[in-house]
Amino acid sequence: MDFTGRIIDLMKKNMQSFISGEVLSRELGITRSAVWKRVKGLRTQGYIIEASPSKGYRLLSIPDILSSKEIKDSINCSIQIIGKEVYVFQEIDSTNIKGMELGDKGYSEGTIILAETQNMGKGRLGRSWISPKGNIYLSVILRPDILPSQAPLITLMAAVASASALRNAFNIGVYIKWPNDLLINSKKVGGILTEMKSEIERINYIVLGIGVNVNMDSSLFPPDVRVNATTLKESVGRELPRIEVISVLLKELDKWYKIFLNKGSGPVFDEWRRLSPSLGKRIKVMSLNRIIEGIAEGLDDYGGLIVRLDDGKTEKVVSGDVTVIN
Ligand code: BTN
Repeated sequence: MDFTGRIIDLMKKNMQSFISGEVLSRELGITRSAVWKRVKGLRTQGYIIEASPSKGYRLLSIPDILSSKEIKDSINCSIQIIGKEVYVFQEIDSTNIKGMELGDKGYSEGTIILAETQNMGKGRLGRSWISPKGNIYLSVILRPDILPSQAPLITLMAAVASASALRNAFNIGVYIKWPNDLLINSKKVGGILTEMKSEIERINYIVLGIGVNVNMDSSLFPPDVRVNATTLKESVGRELPRIEVISVLLKELDKWYKIFLNKGSGPVFDEWRRLSPSLGKRIKVMSLNRIIEGIAEGLDDYGGLIVRLDDGKTEKVVSGDVTVIN
């Protein structure tokens, strides 16, 4: 690690309290003026560092720039699978596209890819995902030993993990709309796109893509999206440090992925039901080739939505957009 990285590390260990220039220069084996030069450099990167001639330096806040080191530090030993390798890009076509590329190359389970912006962000059903700076664009490579037909369960697991993470960390009512929308006050704050490479009976890898609107300016949503979209900033009433959001997301994903691998889909389904207010309501589902209306009754074993039609029969829906009618 270079001198600047070591200065940040030492100041982070003493966050909010002073560390003297003398201690820093002794620890690093460089002069006090060389320390000062690096502190000035850090300030230009957005680190807020107080400098007092008698007390030394005090780190007050860290800029909201994603770096693999910051992310690894924030999850450190508390995670076993997700986030073992972390790659951060300033701009990328799509973190899911990169995830597929790395998946093909054999990168290990738990590798994550993050980007500050995406210029070809992908949404479900061939849509695009608006990806300006200030949000979270995250993809994870997973290699679960499940059948390709069970892959939608990974989407449900991720929806449960993401909603739980945001609820617990920020005390906000985040809910799930089938299959993968994260909602606050019925407006979309995030979404999940699961893609995979598989053979008939075996998954090579899954790329689990999660997008969360965090600090973006809502005026950047196109008007038709804006009415149904929101950001964490809007709900919490302040900008959130994305590292904190990513860290809680990764920890909760790690937790729920292990639950899924060890105990199967039961606990995921239970939590999904608890966080899905549209269950039991009248809904309209628009799929590529049809529209159906009925009561959202539950999930089948593969994560499909069971809808009770007006004639009493049930239909299983595997993809589409759900609107709650009443
Ligand atoms: C949806 O339509 O609701 C799914 C949106 C998924 C967006 C995320 S952002 C990170 C990852 N990379 C992409 O290109 N898409 C997913």
